[in-house]
Amino acid sequence: MEKLIDPFARPISYLRVSVTDRCDFRCVYCMSENMTFLPKKELLTLEELDRLCSAFVRMGVEKLRITGGEPLVRRDIMTFFRSMSRHLDSGALKELTLTTNGSQLEKFAQPLYDAGVRRVNVSADTLDPDKFHQITRWGRLAQVLRGIDAAQAAGIRVKLNAVALKGFNEDELFAITEWCASRDMDLTWIEVMPMGDIGNEDRLDQYWKLSDLRTRLAEQYTLTDLPLSTGGPARYVRLEETGQKVGFITPLTHNFCESCNRVRVTCTGELFMCLGQEDNADLRSALRNHPGSDAPLETAIRNAIEHKPKGHDFDYSRQTVDGRVSRHMSHTGG
Ligand code: GTP
Ligand code: 5AD
Ligand code: SF4
Repeated sequence: MEKLIDPFARPISYLRVSVTDRCDFRCVYCMSENMTFLPKKELLTLEELDRLCSAFVRMGVEKLRITGGEPLVRRDIMTFFRSMSRHLDSGALKELTLTTNGSQLEKFAQPLYDAGVRRVNVSADTLDPDKFHQITRWGRLAQVLRGIDAAQAAGIRVKLNAVALKGFNEDELFAITEWCASRDMDLTWIEVMPMGDIGNEDRLDQYWKLSDLRTRLAEQYTLTDLPLSTGGPARYVRLEETGQKVGFITPLTHNFCESCNRVRVTCTGELFMCLGQEDNADLRSALRNHPGSDAPLETAIRNAIEHKPKGHDFDYSRQTVDGRVSRHMSHTGG
């Protein structure tokens, strides 16, 4: 079947799928304390998720990342992972992976490995239990650390994702780096992105420029730039003293759009061509209205890819609605 290529000649080989908008944490930059979640009937069923992901794999997607919300709180999600592993076995899919807050990883590490998962990204912004509880509102750091242990013991490579937050984890820059190095873990720093209405929190106050973080790292370590490798948006450096990779995801200060290879599907089946734009296609109707045929789904996907924009619209300097994205990260899946 013909591969997906967008109007700017970028092959679409990476699909990110959010399988739930729910989460067992309430990170202050992501959700308000009293988030309302979608009714279950709005979500794609596991069967619909399977049809959708399989269609993308037929059309050239080689890397599938499952996100949320927290993907591991979705009931029966392992059935879905096990089903997707057939695409790994056939060689069509090169990587099946997920981004998780780690809270359920202790329980799911081995089943995930058995389903073919070899890498996970775990989000944690601090290694201080009190600060962890403060930033996630509901989370317990010890539980996440047990999850990371279990994943590593099962043979899964773990990368830590930390959102860079001014006045919150600036003082932990070296502690987090060294902790990851001691566990042979790579680390990615993420700039706060303007997504979703989260109440009083002002993200401009939280915004810690990664160029500043990088300068501070360079005072302590020798940084060597690495070529783009994972097919993700992060730019990586190697710290020569520790040997580990450290990535920077800087959507607001660095434009990586020219090499964009991904699209994302929300938990309700909307296909977003770009994280930072509202243009989307409704794949749920294509799935639900045609339970017996995937042809309408494939057509809907191809038509949507024709509209993939050249780049995103994030802009903190404008501070107007059009510089923000009203969707929540947990709905879109980051
Ligand atoms: P690998 O490179 O495969 O390790 O994954 P990744 O870094 O793409 O995935 P992960 O889920 O760990 O994403 C980390 C952060 O990158 C999340 O906050 C995402 O929202 C952000 N991110 C992922 N893809 C994009 C993108 O296309 N554009 C922007 N602006 N941010 C992205
Ligand atoms: N800006 C940047 N990163 C965010 N995440 C969630 N919300 C935001 C935001 N507004 C991060 C999580 C996780 C990843 C999937 O997205 O902390 O690491
Ligand atoms: Fe949950 Fe991740 Fe959002 Fe935190 S950032 S509330 S862990 S989805």
